[in-house]
Amino acid sequence: MKQIVYHQFGDPARVLEVLEKDAVTLKAGQARVEVLRAPINPSDVIQVAGQYGVMPDLPAVAGNEGLGRVTEVNGDGIAVGQLVLLPAGAGTWVSEVVADIHTLAAMPEGDLDQLAMLTVNPATAHLLLTDFVDLKEGDWVIQSAANSAVGNYVVQLAKAKGIKTACVVRRDSAVAEMEEVGADAVLVDGPDLAKRVRQAAGAKMKLALDAVAGETFGHLAETLEQGGTLVNYGAMSMQPISMPALNLIFNDIRVRGFWLVHWFSNASKEERMQVYGSLTQAVANGTLHAPIDRHFSLDEIAEAVTYTMAGERKGKVLLAPNGM
Ligand SMILES: NC(=O)c1ccc[n+]([C@@H]2O[C@H](COP(=O)([O-])OP(=O)(O)OC[C@H]3O[C@@H](n4cnc5c(N)ncnc54)[C@H](OP(=O)(O)O)[C@@H]3O)[C@@H](O)[C@H]2O)c1
Repeated sequence: MKQIVYHQFGDPARVLEVLEKDAVTLKAGQARVEVLRAPINPSDVIQVAGQYGVMPDLPAVAGNEGLGRVTEVNGDGIAVGQLVLLPAGAGTWVSEVVADIHTLAAMPEGDLDQLAMLTVNPATAHLLLTDFVDLKEGDWVIQSAANSAVGNYVVQLAKAKGIKTACVVRRDSAVAEMEEVGADAVLVDGPDLAKRVRQAAGAKMKLALDAVAGETFGHLAETLEQGGTLVNYGAMSMQPISMPALNLIFNDIRVRGFWLVHWFSNASKEERMQVYGSLTQAVANGTLHAPIDRHFSLDEIAEAVTYTMAGERKGKVLLAPNGM
């Protein structure tokens, strides 16, 4: 079997190595899973770079989510041939996973790419829309990095509830794709963003979702209504957040942070089942989806991470560890 391993934190294109290992014999209660798809998320890359909120002991196997098919079972509870989600955070950039059967979540047959991305981004989008502000039909939400996977899910989930989205991207070439997804307004980031949002939406925003930080954070803040909430959940610019202090004071802006890892630690089993139950259904029936740019093999890992972090993609990049 093959694994993508790192022995030190640093530039992912340099520190990630392909390691060949012998397959292990299953213990009682374990299953062997052939890994079909594993996305490369920004958080995976910054974890390898040593800048993430949780750091694995080294050496570590890279990758935090993915989808596979059970090929061998030593116990009850799952059948050979079943499609499963890999355990979150388990080191998923591998050709094969051996895991305890109870850690594998059975998935319906469907689009392999979309199902492989179920653990992280759809739940993030759902919780960003539900856990901060009580949004009603007709309310407006603004978001940066709107053409990201999370941003696409936010638009689709909001639309299903009659919530309107103002989508902020950093380049003209991403505008058309957001209009196609169903954004109610699409704007390119800039210092006069608030003025342009008001012209396009005719309303102030109730909630702002920021995955960029830097000056974008402040641009979003200026679009909010009095007492509006600004949630930062990503730092794609890797810049400190900045906003005009007077805007914070005079508009009583509520600034919050969100990390899915905290939600996982605090949510009850029932809450998790409720959130993932409806998201699994939506992803499996195609109502919730994110655009895909391209796939790489495990052997192409250096090129894959460099390509992913270069940005200006047409969608997500996934590893296909056992081919397409
Ligand atoms: N807090 C949490 O629990 C949590 C959970 C999931 C995701 N996230 C975060 O959510 C964000 C989106 O994740 P994703 O997987 O959906 O991303 P993705 O699909 O890989 O898309 C990345 C997005 O970031 C934009 N971007 C890249 N570099 C940028 C820069 N220097 N300045 C401004 N924008 C830049 C890209 O714009 P271009 O297309 O123009 O390059 C694109 O919109 C990431 O920051 C991720 O870490 C956080």
